[in-house]
Amino acid sequence: MELASARLHKGQISWWGLLLTASLLTTWSPPTTAQVTIEAVPPDVAEGKDVLLLVHNLPQALRVYYWFKRKAKDRDNEIVRFIVSKNENITGLAYSGRETVYSNGSLLFQNVKKSDEGVYILYMLNKDFDDIQKSVRLYVHSEKHH
Ligand SMILES: *[C@@H]1O[C@H](CO)[C@@H](O)[C@H](O)[C@H]1NC(C)=O
Ligand SMILES: *[C@@H]1O[C@H](CO)[C@@H](O)[C@H](O)[C@H]1NC(C)=O
Repeated sequence: MELASARLHKGQISWWGLLLTASLLTTWSPPTTAQVTIEAVPPDVAEGKDVLLLVHNLPQALRVYYWFKRKAKDRDNEIVRFIVSKNENITGLAYSGRETVYSNGSLLFQNVKKSDEGVYILYMLNKDFDDIQKSVRLYVHSEKHH
């Protein structure tokens, strides 16, 4: 008996530890989709031009997603939300009239101004109301010196 428990400690893993590991491996399914990322295209846009905030690997089974400027979950900073089940958008208080949201998550920004520069946040809610957020920085350069 003593010998058995000594051996257990030396091995540093117990039978219940193995069971726990095994059950975690079977119940926890790793995400099959890649991480969502956002890229500004072009990465540094000239004033007056258009830029696309391109979303890669938008998660499946989203309920709704929002685009915010500067700060997520802030009503004053909401540009637009997209209701997936209805395939429709609702503009928010920070909507300037120059943004268009697509069903694939991407946001087109037309006729950008220097004041549009900053952080944009894509805030997503899935069917279980779990949230995911990703941000991208928009750089706008002035063309005045040309
Ligand atoms: C999303 O839609 C926009 C507009 O149709 C398109 O330009 C963009 O490439 C699409 N994004 C992806 C990741 O397919
Ligand atoms: C909302 O959807 C309508 C209809 O598809 C589209 O014309 C409009 O540009 C969209 N608005 C935004 C802010 O994306």
